[in-house]
Amino acid sequence: MTDLRVVGGDLLPPESDRRHLLSIADLTGDDVERLLSTAHSFALSQERDTKKLPTLRGRLILNVFYESSTRTSSSFELAAKRLSADTMTLKSTGSSVDKGESLKDTALTLSAYDPDVIVLRHPQAGAAQFVSQVTEARVVNAGDGKHQHPTQALLDLFTIKEAFGRLDGLHVAIVGDVVHSRVARSLVQALRLVGAEAILVGPPALLPTGLAPATHDISAIADADVVYVLRMQKERMLPGANFVPSLREYTERWGITPARVREGQRVMHPGPMNRGVEIDARVADSDASLVVEQVRAGLVVRMAVLYDLLTSGPVAVETTMEVA
Ligand code: NCD
Repeated sequence: MTDLRVVGGDLLPPESDRRHLLSIADLTGDDVERLLSTAHSFALSQERDTKKLPTLRGRLILNVFYESSTRTSSSFELAAKRLSADTMTLKSTGSSVDKGESLKDTALTLSAYDPDVIVLRHPQAGAAQFVSQVTEARVVNAGDGKHQHPTQALLDLFTIKEAFGRLDGLHVAIVGDVVHSRVARSLVQALRLVGAEAILVGPPALLPTGLAPATHDISAIADADVVYVLRMQKERMLPGANFVPSLREYTERWGITPARVREGQRVMHPGPMNRGVEIDARVADSDASLVVEQVRAGLVVRMAVLYDLLTSGPVAVETTMEVA
């Protein structure tokens, strides 16, 4: 039997404030610090031969995905399993599923199983918040349209902190299709909470206004510690809309090639990557790349999020979790 001590629970806010994880905007800097520290403890537990912890035994976690997902859905499922919860993943193609009654009916149907947590990915902004209002379960937003993807931002912070040993004062250049990106929206807010800075770089039509300083000049990435590359999210563009002249020109002007990455810089991408478009394969596979580390962080950060939502105050101050 080995003990895993999760520290930092003294920062826990009142339970009423932390029922759901819908947006980074709902978190404080202390919340982020606590979640990253819990994730770090779980990362240590995952280095052992026996990786399963009994912490959430008897709890039910439902993963409901109305949009495609590889990393997010698999890591939530594995996170629940590593914490000994019962888990079920429901997938839908999404195209025929509307907001309003149908989403409400799905939520009510699933609520009949008395889940402790519903993890939801949905193409419409606000879907997770909507479900949180019609279910007793805690809701985790696993991506709602182009609005928010809070667990991605948390796993990105975790990855950056592991790589640089700190977050405060770091500069992150977010490059590409920012306007359609829930990842970028959550990440900019999360970086602000920990004292890091973001700059947005890409074609003018793909840069939102008012989120963070922005430029179309790719040479601006030279000052960044981290180059965070985004996919062209065609599924969120109106049919026929031309945001860039052509993918070839996009790659020429904004693609992350070896020549554009300077010594000491690290490169991140939330996946799925379009190699040869927004990121050159030689960069994706280089030592500068943190892409695999991001996937690994996704597991332990999602374990931390589930743990944090389902355990309260005194339990987390110094919790002993016996390895099953
Ligand atoms: C992102 C998403 O779905 O928002 N991917 C992910 O969760 N790992 C980014 C994307 O689809 O480009």
